[in-house]
Amino acid sequence: MEWKRALADVAAAQLGLPADDVLAAVEYPPHPNLGDLALPCFRFAKVLRQNPAQLAAATAAALTASGRFEHVEVAGGYVNVRLHRQAVAARVLDLANRNPAGLYSRRRHAGDKVAVDYSSPNIAKPFGVGHLRSTMIGQAICRMLAADGFTVLGINHLGDWGTQFGKNIVAYLRWGDEATVRRDPVRELFRLYVRFHEEAKDHPELEDEARAWFKKLEEGDATARRLWQWFIQESLRAFEQTYQRLGVTFDYVLGESFYNDKMQAVIDELQARGLLTESEGAEVVDLSAWNLPPCIIRKSDGATIYATRDLAAALYRHDVLGADHLVYVVGSEQTLHFQQVFKVLELMDRPWAAHCTHVAFGMMKYNGERLSTRRGKVVYLEDVLTRAVQEARQIIEEKNPQLPEKDQVAEAVGIGAVVFNDLKNDRLHDVDFRWEDVLNFDGETGPYVQYTHARACSVLRRAQAEGLSWPPAPPATTLSDPEWQLVHQLAQSNELFERAVDRFDPSVIARHALDLCHLFNRFYHDCPILGAPAAERTWRLALTDATRQALAFALHLLGLAAPAAM
Ligand code: ARG
Repeated sequence: MEWKRALADVAAAQLGLPADDVLAAVEYPPHPNLGDLALPCFRFAKVLRQNPAQLAAATAAALTASGRFEHVEVAGGYVNVRLHRQAVAARVLDLANRNPAGLYSRRRHAGDKVAVDYSSPNIAKPFGVGHLRSTMIGQAICRMLAADGFTVLGINHLGDWGTQFGKNIVAYLRWGDEATVRRDPVRELFRLYVRFHEEAKDHPELEDEARAWFKKLEEGDATARRLWQWFIQESLRAFEQTYQRLGVTFDYVLGESFYNDKMQAVIDELQARGLLTESEGAEVVDLSAWNLPPCIIRKSDGATIYATRDLAAALYRHDVLGADHLVYVVGSEQTLHFQQVFKVLELMDRPWAAHCTHVAFGMMKYNGERLSTRRGKVVYLEDVLTRAVQEARQIIEEKNPQLPEKDQVAEAVGIGAVVFNDLKNDRLHDVDFRWEDVLNFDGETGPYVQYTHARACSVLRRAQAEGLSWPPAPPATTLSDPEWQLVHQLAQSNELFERAVDRFDPSVIARHALDLCHLFNRFYHDCPILGAPAAERTWRLALTDATRQALAFALHLLGLAAPAAM
């Protein structure tokens, strides 16, 4: 917020400290009674070896003299500042009216290109609720980075290669049939895969058979390749449906198999640089100097693996696609893998290794339970979405049976509920998926944000119907507390947006949206809008419109639809 900056500049000049240090110390007081901004002076007192209360008093005097603040007050070692409510309101309305991203973005990264790896599910395995995390966090990050100026390349790094496909082939040839697979490809292929693991317990020779089929696949055997390609095609078709419902898109779908012919170059380079060593028959890059386990490049049986593919993929994204930042939205359980890959890139003298980021996230539990694909314990995302939409439809039917386009709204709200539940918490925390939380339309949920947005739209629709207009101007007299608190939150949009981008954390946007909703609903409750005298009415409509835009853009960033009526 620019007033935060102004406060920091004046205070820094007074204290003789760097403005950025002071800026980092400026706080939003926990209670509005204390003021709009606060500067604790204790840390500066230590650095400057002075008494905090005296420093605070001198700083307060300088802030008052600047004339930029409504009121400045000292409380112990704190300086508490009140802002000119009308000035901030004028600024907020102006920004909200510039363009949809106006309140949020200064486009700091214009000219930079980033490749974001997200979703990246495994072929012939179910798309479970667990995959929702990478998919939706990744999609939100793409939108956030794009809004901050990046050219974003969204990449789906499909798991379409590996010994697993030997097992899929064996299982299909033994127990499967084409018609059943065609009917419900992902579930049927997965059922066969689970059966393989069950039968292999008693018949270990199945594992050899699977290895043999994978070898055939690697060697280009016609049957093996035909089946493999068919599995991919059927799985992708099913995944596409889910992506469509979620509004998720990619610029590139490049599976792991895409790098089959690009790995030898990596191995050769590692060899030439003297980075490869042998360990128990495998070729590895020794990373013990960095306290990391060796990065396995080629297994003892000559097969290349996950890390080698990721090295080839990173080089491709940088060298061929022209990305200067590489982002990987992948669960925390792969943290070590990415540390190894990034370290090897650094050892290969790629300075851009410093711009590689693993955006980790916690696990998804379902009603408190861990899900495991191996044990066949999956909750299909498609089923979850369908149920959420059905329940949303029911609620609409009860609450607003006259609503036009009920099906579309139910789809938007049901899916929004599931997605928001995933994005609203710090991404590193585990998410527990509980139906009663997800679909609680009065709690901190997607439907609550969507509903508040629709409420703002509805006020503006009614105003329009009455022939009113609302030029973006602040009120002539000062703002009431509920108006001001809403303005104050809107004024923080940009700062919160930048924090969300810098931390790759959509939850910062989700929390902001929830805060805006609480404050808007209080304003709506306490301050008449359409029933107010003309001057107040115009300003309150302008404030309602700014809130509507701020919510719509937050929903867009999070990948939720924003219906105009609910
Ligand atoms: N397919 C992998 C999995 O489901 C995730 C791939 C992540 N991306 C990557 N470049 N390694 O575990």
